[in-house]
Amino acid sequence: MSIKKISNIIDLPDSKPLEQEEVITKKQSLPLHINALVICTSDDTKFALANQFSLINNLHIEFSKQLPKQFSQFDLVMLAMGKDSTNIKIVIEQLAKEHIPTLLLGDDIEHDVIRTAMQFNVQDVITLATVEQELVNTLTVCANKILKQKKVAPIISIINGKSGSGASFISGCLGEITADLCQDEIVLLDADLHYGSLADSLNFKADYFLNDALNDIESLDNTAIKSMMTKRKNLSLLTSKTYAQLDSEQNKNFVHLEQLLWKIKLNHDLVLADLSRGLDVLTLPLVLLSSQILIVVQQNIVSLRETKALIHQLTDRMGINKSLIKIIVNRHSKQVTNITLDDIKNVLAINDIFCVSNNYQLASSCTDLGSPLSKLSDNKIIHKDICCIIEQIFPVDIAVEKAGFFSNILRKAHDFIRYESR
Ligand SMILES: Nc1ncnc2c1ncn2[C@@H]1O[C@H](COP(=O)(O)OP(=O)(O)OP(=O)(O)O)[C@@H](O)[C@H]1O
Ligand SMILES: [Mg+2]
Repeated sequence: MSIKKISNIIDLPDSKPLEQEEVITKKQSLPLHINALVICTSDDTKFALANQFSLINNLHIEFSKQLPKQFSQFDLVMLAMGKDSTNIKIVIEQLAKEHIPTLLLGDDIEHDVIRTAMQFNVQDVITLATVEQELVNTLTVCANKILKQKKVAPIISIINGKSGSGASFISGCLGEITADLCQDEIVLLDADLHYGSLADSLNFKADYFLNDALNDIESLDNTAIKSMMTKRKNLSLLTSKTYAQLDSEQNKNFVHLEQLLWKIKLNHDLVLADLSRGLDVLTLPLVLLSSQILIVVQQNIVSLRETKALIHQLTDRMGINKSLIKIIVNRHSKQVTNITLDDIKNVLAINDIFCVSNNYQLASSCTDLGSPLSKLSDNKIIHKDICCIIEQIFPVDIAVEKAGFFSNILRKAHDFIRYESR
């Protein structure tokens, strides 16, 4: 079939914008989730600052009238302590000793306080009159500095162009094979809120779910965030409890999803999210935080039509850069000649295209019996296909002893699996 013909068939009229979009774009978001303490002695100032903080996403604030005994859990401390210059200087020194980034907020700050602030590397001084204009920028600069010092796992979302295309099968395979090839801590996040199937297909027994983590968000420290997940070697799974989404009370906790994702990112090496259900208001933060989006399609017109609409939502409406989007043609067969990889690439206008071959018997026995990896060793082609995706786009270090095996697979695989842009 000609590209023009396919394009004519799949072109859709503009669909309505996402309602969530306005909510997401109105607030400014920090590049990293910041857990900040504000030491504030005046109730009026506290009220004014709380208003400003509420306009910033990715920021968790706790107020206190004095420096608490335990403050190492905070990424940043802001001091709005009025004229109490002796106390301010002591607090600045204490924070500097613990290397906690500090901001000074207030009007007419005395010279010797400013001098102490400079001596102990306070990051910035903001007058209350200019807080509205300066706060987001200053916090963004602080967040970027903190970000540089931390290892942050990228999120790769695997999203269905159309339901049933194989996003869960591919997510499971990518997770298990990546964990097998490297030492990195890999997290599989089953974000199919209704019919999450990864626990079954990977043979994991989950007893703590995404909803539980969202409920317990405040108490999840660096240790808890790792131990809450079901784990096998270096592969961890956080799955959704089936039908938990029908409980509207539970849904309210999804406001903490971004915060939870940051906690997961800061304690692991790679996060793979199965978004089989496509775009969903509750899981949008996951899409927006993704450094790559793999869209799973099949070689048919309906799949391409829905995928084109999805790409339109992601790029034109949510502002996601097209270069982050890659296509995986699942159940690919060279025998399907009326829609070739060339056609798919041109019609969807995406350069990076990968294929996963068709093998229904193998895929369904993996899905039904658990542990795709062990089954996949019987199927060299699908294993190669998945390895090719990992090697091309996953930011992981392949273990030395696996590298030889891996490059052998890839040398052959490159020749015929990856669809190179011409
Ligand atoms: N490469 C493949 N070859 C053959 N069958 C496959 C392949 N990939 C997936 N399947 C089969 O297709 C069916 C759907 O797969 P899967 O559950 O992964 O899709 P999904 O996109 O996650 O679906 P849903 O929209 O319901 O979440 C399963 O029976 C699976 O075994
Ligand atoms: Mg699925």
